[in-house]
Amino acid sequence: MATRRAVAVVTGASSGIGRATALELAAAGFDVVGTSRNTSKVAALDGITFLDLDVTSDASVTALIQQVIDRFGRIDVLVNNAGIGSTGAAEESSLVQDQNIFDINVFGVMRTTKAVLPHMRAQGRGRIINTSSIYGFIPQPYMAVYVASKHALEGYSESLDHEVREHGVRVLLVEPGATNTAFEGNIVQPDAPLAVYAQQRRIADQLVADAVKGGDAPVTVAKAILAAATDSTPKLRYTAGPLAGRLSLLRRIVPARAFDRQIRKFNKLAS
Ligand SMILES: NC(=O)c1ccc[n+]([C@@H]2O[C@H](COP(=O)([O-])OP(=O)(O)OC[C@H]3O[C@@H](n4cnc5c(N)ncnc54)[C@H](OP(=O)(O)O)[C@@H]3O)[C@@H](O)[C@H]2O)c1
Repeated sequence: MATRRAVAVVTGASSGIGRATALELAAAGFDVVGTSRNTSKVAALDGITFLDLDVTSDASVTALIQQVIDRFGRIDVLVNNAGIGSTGAAEESSLVQDQNIFDINVFGVMRTTKAVLPHMRAQGRGRIINTSSIYGFIPQPYMAVYVASKHALEGYSESLDHEVREHGVRVLLVEPGATNTAFEGNIVQPDAPLAVYAQQRRIADQLVADAVKGGDAPVTVAKAILAAATDSTPKLRYTAGPLAGRLSLLRRIVPARAFDRQIRKFNKLAS
């Protein structure tokens, strides 16, 4: 059944930022499809259709996008929100583990993007909104793989946006700071820990746990995503929350050496 309302797909809508985003988009009048790897475990939400999706599977992504087109006739907004954190020194995780993080945070986004673009180009309109992070533009020791995945997402999105703009499609980034979700509980721990990094890793893990616990409410990020989905003249980047806004400004105006010192100080690393 084709719909006349705008249709939004939100990946990873079972919890946290994705759930809040699905609700915010539905309240704004979108027909919303939310995804989870196991929708049978997801509590029903008013106005949201839940469909299964594993972003690491080509077949799952193709099936999801086809299902949405068959059922709703179009996709106006794709929110690539599904993602996973990882901690530990860069030397402490196997390459397979690093690849698994990228398979969700980077290749997952590429899979859904490639699947949805032909439909958006044919419509002559659409928005792809990618959930980045402050770690898409600043470093974070003991989270190098996660940080690398979000930096990759930034470069991919900004480049792709130039390619598809003339087809009426925009690719936009939302950059949250620490947000109070299940993120920290789902963080992947390093599979090859080394004693030499243990003490500093524990300090870093505690900093992340405290930041997420005291972080913004998911609805703060959801509102930034809604703005990206609906602004008549969208921005390429939307920071979400006061910390992200401050850090984005500081990253641009603070000299590199001073910024480097602050990163070490914040992370309790020897200067
Ligand atoms: N929380 C923060 O402090 C923070 C800050 C900046 C950016 N972010 C970003 O915000 C996004 C959402 O994170 P969150 O904080 O809301 O964490 P969350 O509560 O743990 O939610 C993560 C979502 O991703 C989904 N997911 C995980 N692996 C998947 C896969 N292979 N295929 C499909 N879906 C998958 C999960 O769905 P199922 O388990 O149901 O499949 C879940 O709905 C992530 O991209 C994260 O990097 C978070």
